[in-house]
Parts: sequence; C-alpha cells; structure tokens
Amino acid sequence: ATIADASIQRGQGGETHQVAGGKTPVLTTRQGVPVSDDQNSLKLGLRGPTLMEDSHFREKIFHFDHERIPERVVHARGFGAHGFFEAYESLADITRADIFQRAGEKTPVFVRFSTVAGNKGSADLARDVRGFAVKFYTKEGNWDLVGNNIPVFFIQDAIKFPDLIHAAKQEPDRGFPQAQTAHDNFWDFISLMPESIHMALWIMSDRTIPRSFRFMEGFGVHSFRLINADGKSTYVKFHWKPKLGLQSVAWNEAVKLNGADPDFHRRDLWDAIQTGNYPEWELGLQLFDDAFADEFDFDILDATKIIPEELVPIRRVGRLVLDRTVDNFFNETEQVAFQTGNIVPGIDFTNDPLLQGRNFSYLDTQLKRLGSPNFNDLPINAPKCPFHTFQQDGHMTLNNPKGRANYEPNSWGAEGGPRETPKGFQTFPEEITGEKRRARAELFADHYSQARQFYISQTDIEQTHIKDAFVFELSKVERPDIRTRVLSHLVNVDEGLAAMVADGLGMDVPDAAEPAREIIADLEPS
Ligand code: HEM
Repeated sequence: ATIADASIQRGQGGETHQVAGGKTPVLTTRQGVPVSDDQNSLKLGLRGPTLMEDSHFREKIFHFDHERIPERVVHARGFGAHGFFEAYESLADITRADIFQRAGEKTPVFVRFSTVAGNKGSADLARDVRGFAVKFYTKEGNWDLVGNNIPVFFIQDAIKFPDLIHAAKQEPDRGFPQAQTAHDNFWDFISLMPESIHMALWIMSDRTIPRSFRFMEGFGVHSFRLINADGKSTYVKFHWKPKLGLQSVAWNEAVKLNGADPDFHRRDLWDAIQTGNYPEWELGLQLFDDAFADEFDFDILDATKIIPEELVPIRRVGRLVLDRTVDNFFNETEQVAFQTGNIVPGIDFTNDPLLQGRNFSYLDTQLKRLGSPNFNDLPINAPKCPFHTFQQDGHMTLNNPKGRANYEPNSWGAEGGPRETPKGFQTFPEEITGEKRRARAELFADHYSQARQFYISQTDIEQTHIKDAFVFELSKVERPDIRTRVLSHLVNVDEGLAAMVADGLGMDVPDAAEPAREIIADLEPS
C-alpha cells in the first residue's frame, strides 16, 4: 500500500520532496528514481529468468556485494562516541596548542575504544589491552591522541610490531584463538622478547578486563613534546583519569560475560550516554625537561617504561566528556581514521622509535582500509576548522581546489589559492648527530626493574590475580619450553611470583633468564 501511495511532492522552496504516504520518504534508487516494487525482480513471464535490464535489482545487489571493507589490522573491534574537551586553564606558558590557550574553551572530540587482538566480531571482555583513541577537532587542525589503557607497550621499536601482532592474533594454520592471548605463539614471542615483560605483567593484571570503558584510564604512552610560542620544548606524557575511578571485573565474571553478552562494553557505553550518564575523564600531563630526561634511569624514548608519578606528578588540565552516541556506526566508528601523525602547532613528536614507526603505519593502513587518499574528507575525519590544500583528484574526490591555480608558488595574486604562513606548524629544531645504524641506546636495556616495581605496587588481591592469570594463560601453552622461558623471566621480576606460577603449573622454578640475545640463540623446541 505504501508503494501504491507513493507520490512526488514539491516543497515550498521549490526542491523536490519524494514522499510515500504521509511523511514517509519514498524508496528510490541511488539515482533518485522512485521504486514501485522492491519485492520482485523484473522477470520475463511469471516463471522466467531475471532480466539484465533490471537496473534497480543490479544496483541494489551490486551495492550490497561491496558493503564490507577490511577490518582494522589491529583494534578491529571498537566502539566510539562524540563529546568535548574542556580546558581548565591556559597552558600558554608550556604550549601554543590552540586548545590549551583559554580556560573553559570546549573542543569537539570523537573517541573510539577498542580491543587490540580480537577480530571485529570478538567478545568485549577478552583479556586484552584496550585502545583509547581521541580525535580533537581543534581550531588549528585535528590532533589525534591514539593511546591505550596501559601506559607501556610490548616493544621498543616499531619494526617488531608485525611480529608482535602476528604472534598475538589467531595462529595462521588453525585460525584461533580469535580474541585471547592464551596460546603458544603469543607466549613464545613474549618469552623471546624480554622488553615485553613489563607489559606482560600489566596485561596479566586486572587492567585488561575493565568493568567498562567508563572505568578505564588512558595513556598516550610515548613521550611527546609541548612547544610554546617562544619555541621552548617541554616533554609530556598524556594520561586520562576516569571520573568514576578505575574498576575491573574478576576473570570468572569476564568469562561469563563473554558468553552472556559479548557486547557488554559497547552496550554499557551506549546506555550510559543515552541515559544522560555522560562518562568523563580528566586529561593529566606529566611535564619534564631535558635535565630530568638526562638523569632518569631509563630512556624517555623507550615506550616500555613509565615515568613514575612520584617523580613527576600528574597535572590535571582539562576534562573529556562523552555526551553523544553516533548516528551511524559505520559512518563514524568504522570510518574514523586516527593517525599519530596528526598533531597541531604546539605539540611535537619525540624520537621514540615506536612512535616514529606508527607515524607511517596509520596513514598507510588507512589507505588500504578506506580505499582512497580522500578518506580525510569523510565528515568524521575532516577538520572542523577551515582547510585549504592543493591536493586534488583520486577516488571519491569531494574537495578539489577551486579556481585555476592548483600549485604554488603561483602569481595569481588573491585568486591564487592558499598560502603558507610563518605561524604554521613548526617542527622542534632538535639537534641530532650520530652514526646511521640499526641499534638501540644502552638505556633501553633494563627490562625487569619497572616490571618488578609494577608487581610490588599491587595490593595482595591484585597480585593474586596476576599470579592466577599467568597460571591460567600458561596452562594453555602446549610447549613446556615456552612456559619455562616465561617463568625464567618471572624469576627476574619477582622470585615469589615465579615460584607461585611454577607451582600452579606443576613445574620447577627455572634459572633466571639470560639476556635476550642468548635466549634467541637457542630456538630449538624441546
Ligand atoms: C590502531 C594504539 C602501536 C599500528 C590502533 C588503535 C589504537 C592504537 C588505540 C585503534 C584506533 C581506532 O580506534 O581506530 C596504539 C598504541 C601503540 C600502538 C598506544 C603503542 C604505544 C602501534 C605500532 C604500530 C601500530 C607500533 C605499527 C608500527 C596500528 C595500525 C592500526 C592501529 C595499523 C589500525 C589503524 C586503522 O586501521 O585505522 N593503535 N598502537 N600501532 N595501530 Fe596502533
């Protein structure tokens, strides 16, 4: 009946409104042609073959056939929401970043939370790191703070990222596990990469089974730079502190929740925002200078290390509020493209070799995932401030330069398009000298001290959970030599922990692990 009622009405402004009975819009083809029958394909006779000329059928099936895009190579399962960041105070003495100039200033943001290893359809309560990616639509361009809920990372150099992720995701022959870390490949890799032991302690803690996204901390992980108007640089580590505090579920709850409601986390965020319980985090900064960096026991470019809060307290400088769910999951949550390379004047990178590699990887993968170099024109990715480039063409072009000039310098005067400005982004002119070689600084070598500090900083029950998690995870590892190698690292972290885990596995406590290179030299499975 609705189809029969379809009529074309002309709106007051002269534009065409296609309305099917009352206020229901008419179903049209992508060309805007009203559809009279969406139930039957066009056939020759009642029992005849479908006709090639049925362009409505062809267009509909063609579009459906192409609905899927590649899921993210990591962090495939995620959930996003809109909100704002509000600065508490001006930080003009530390950074010229526009969003930190004026107390009370609000900047729109889009945030996507995610798990790392699981595929798009995996369960929310997997024991895994959570992504905490924030896109700030500032008045001087988009700034993406692409962080996690753990302050350190598994590896020091981005060149190992493909190996880490291959080892963490499903094994290539069997295609499982889809979501969890408990398998031989993962622990094999960890046991051969002592730099990952600090993070391994964090992922065996309750942090990796958060009660919801609303109860998670977030971290920028790397040391970044803040640059003020005079060009002065201050190192910074970024922190997100949840207003609701930090809470996790217990492992047996996680296992049950994964079965009962694999969408538990995304449902929680959706419900909270829909009912006006807007989740909130405070942005915290750890600020330090070159003198501190030079004297600190670890290299501040090493992403497997934290800067202890008792040495550099966290200064809370603003709040993040999520107050709007997406209109469309695919448009926004799936097509958002976070990119560590997206920084704005007043913020700069350091030479952290993990960060430097990320700056290539995100842009590169997004071309593959989203299919066109114009993905920044999608509303979720486009800046909310004016932008003008001479970039042109490519698949799905929306924003080609206007007018005749599409290059610069040009002599077309006022019609010549955008011009550069000395007030634009300036890279911090850090002085660097040295030999060109594949190597790491000496200060990157201590893999156990902070792992030990993390473990002993935990309460008794938290320590028990870490021990239980190691026992559970390693009991799923088939090869005894891999379990032994992990235990040998735990001896270096805390002998008591190593003994309890060994006991739980029914194994002897091995000797302490040797330095990394010696372990890697002996790769024969036993
Ligand atoms: C995706 C965080 C290291 C490559 C993500 C996402 C987060 C994240 C939060 C999901 C973004 C979203 O929600 O769309 C981190 C953190 C790291 C880290 C905190 C270490 C401190 C790396 C490294 C590489 C890498 C070393 C590669 C060299 C990727 C890629 C994606 C991704 C390719 C998928 C991006 C997309 O398809 O849009 N990462 N990551 N990450 N990360 Fe990382």
